[in-house]
Amino acid sequence: MELDVLLFVTNGTVMSREKIGHYMIFGSSVLTELFGGLMGFPISILNANAAQASAAIATTFRTKCVMCHGPDGGGSEVGKSMNVPDLRSEAVQQLTDAELAQIISDGKGGMPSFKSSFSADQIHALVKHVRTLAKKK
Ligand code: HEC
Repeated sequence: MELDVLLFVTNGTVMSREKIGHYMIFGSSVLTELFGGLMGFPISILNANAAQASAAIATTFRTKCVMCHGPDGGGSEVGKSMNVPDLRSEAVQQLTDAELAQIISDGKGGMPSFKSSFSADQIHALVKHVRTLAKKK
């Protein structure tokens, strides 16, 4: 009963039950918006970061790998003269992520080591990039 009195008398003005109802609906839709906003915000940041990361790794691939492997992984002129394997091929794609990461990190034959130029995260992203080159079946 006392609570009722408190609800009905705000700032000295008496509100009808109907008015209070409106305020409550308004309040809850504000909360919903706020919640949606809070949830949506970090998600859009994550998406932006993911897009940025894949753009960054595509650039890395272009500047560090394309001179030998070609933009599509099929091998550049220089690469072909070194007998680079076709990164799109079954032979390369069947390697595990760990094997690919190790080759990129340590190098192999004519392939230079990239350990000192890349973080583990970048090497992981490059492995993912190599996966995107796979021949579509
Ligand atoms: C200087 C030329 C050169 C550059 C630059 C280069 N590679 Fe290679 N890569 C090679 C050669 C040569 C091989 C073949 C090595 C072998 O099997 O002896 C190779 C092999 C590979 C393989 C497959 C290995 C296998 O056993 O099938 C992957 C994957 C690879 N490179 C990824 C990369 C990535 C990613 C980059 C950029 C970070 C890169 N390479 C940069 C020359 C290069």
